[in-house]
Amino acid sequence: MAARKRASADASTEAKVQEKPKSQDSVPAEPPTAPLNLKSGFILKLSLLLLGPYCYLIFHHYNIDRDLKKSILINAVVSLAGVFVTLKMIPVASKYVLRRNLFGYDINKRGTYAGTLRVPESLGIVVGIVFLVLAIVFQYFNFTSDSIWLVEYNAALASICFMTLLGFVDDVLDVPWRVKLLLPSFAALPLLMAYAGHTTIIIPKPLIPYVGLQILDLGWMYKLYMGLLAVFCTNSINIHAGLNGLEVGQTVVIASAILIHNIMQIGASKDPEYKQAHAFSIYLVQPLLATSLGLLSYNWYPSSVFVGDTYTYFAGMTMAVVGILGHFSETLLIFFAPQVLNFLLSLPQLSGLVPCPRHRLPRFDSKTGLLTGTNDGTLVNFTLRLLGRMSENSLCIVLLVFQAIACFLCFLLRHFLAGWYK
Ligand code: UD1
Ligand code: MG
Repeated sequence: MAARKRASADASTEAKVQEKPKSQDSVPAEPPTAPLNLKSGFILKLSLLLLGPYCYLIFHHYNIDRDLKKSILINAVVSLAGVFVTLKMIPVASKYVLRRNLFGYDINKRGTYAGTLRVPESLGIVVGIVFLVLAIVFQYFNFTSDSIWLVEYNAALASICFMTLLGFVDDVLDVPWRVKLLLPSFAALPLLMAYAGHTTIIIPKPLIPYVGLQILDLGWMYKLYMGLLAVFCTNSINIHAGLNGLEVGQTVVIASAILIHNIMQIGASKDPEYKQAHAFSIYLVQPLLATSLGLLSYNWYPSSVFVGDTYTYFAGMTMAVVGILGHFSETLLIFFAPQVLNFLLSLPQLSGLVPCPRHRLPRFDSKTGLLTGTNDGTLVNFTLRLLGRMSENSLCIVLLVFQAIACFLCFLLRHFLAGWYK
C-alpha cells in the first residue's frame, strides 16, 4: 500500500520529505497531515453501551466460580492498561509511519480540504504489538507451566503474530489481491499444527435420522475447515471497509458479542473443560476489544489515522482463533452475517466475472458532503442504494447498528435452536 502511495505521490514531494532541510529559509512546506483528534467522549459512551450487558451478566446474572472470575478480572485490568498504552503510542507511531511515507488519502473526502491531508496508515501495528504484549504477560497470572492450554494459547498467539506481520508486509509492499487472499492460510499454520482438540461436530437433532450419526468426526477435514475459517474472517473484515471507523467499529461490535456469548456459556455450563474453552476466548477478546477501542478513538470520523491491513488481518485472525479454540465457530459465523453478505455481494468481482477496481467505494459529492452508492458489489454501496444518499458518518453508524442487530439475532437464533443439540 505504501508502495502504491509512493508511486502515486508527487515525486518532488517525496524528495522534500526525505531530504533534510539545510537552513530555516529553505525548509520545504510539508504536505499537510490530518490533525490528531481523540474522540474519547464518544468512545467512552460506546464502551459503556457495549460493555454494560457483559458486566451485568458477570457480576449479577450468573454465579461464576471465584477463580475463573478472578482470572477474567485480572485480564480486564491488564486490558484496561492496554487502552492507555494504545492511546499514548498511536501519536508516536503516526510520526514514524509518516516519516516512511506510509500514509493514505481519505477517498470519501476527495475534492475537499480534508481529502488533501495525509492520513498516517497501518496504525493497526500499535494495536497488534500492545495486544501481543498483554496476552503474553497475562499467562503469568493464569497458567501453570504444565498446562495443556499453554500450548494452544501460544500457538494462537503465534498465528496472530504471524498474521500481523503479513498484514504489515501487505501494507508496505501492496501485495496483489489474489495473493492477499492466501496470506491468512500461512498465518493459521502454527495453530493448525498445534491443535490437539476434537475434530468432531454435533449433528442437530432433526438431521440425525438422515446422517445416521449423532457426532460426526471430520478428521483432517476439520483442520481444513479451521484454515478456511481463518481465511474468511480476516479477508471479510478487510473487504467490509473504506469508511472512517468501519474496520475497527465492526470488530468492536463483534468482540462485544463474543464476550457476551462466552459469559453466557460459562454461566450456563457445569463442565469445567467447556468453561475453560470459553474463558480462553475471553482472555484474548478482552485485550482485542480494549486495544481496538483505543484505536477507534483516533480512527472514528473524521479519521486521524488509518488502520491498514495490519489491523484488519490481525483482528480477523484473533476472532477466528478464539472461535476455533473456544469451539463456537458456527456462532462466530452468525456474528459475521454482514461480512458474509458483503462477501456474497463481492463474489462476482472477487472471482473476476465482473471487473474489480482497486477501491470499491461510494461516490462522494464534495458540494453536499453525501455519498452515493455505485454498482460495485459491497454492502456499503448496497446500503446506500437501498436507503439513499447519506454522509459517511451516518452510513458507518447504520452499518454498525446492522452489525449489532445481526449479533442480537444470533443470540435469539441460538436460544431457539438450543433444543436441536440437546
Ligand atoms: C479493500 C477493498 C477496497 C476498499 C479498501 C478500503 C475489496 C476487494 N477491497 O482493499 O475495495 O476500497 O479495502 O479500505 O473489497 N480509505 C479511506 N477511508 C477509510 C479507510 C480507507 O479512504 O476510512 C482508503 C485510504 O486511501 C487508505 C486505503 O483506503 O489508504 C486503504 O486501502 P487498503 O486497505 O489497502 O485496501 P484493500 O484492503 O486492498
Ligand atoms: Mg484493507
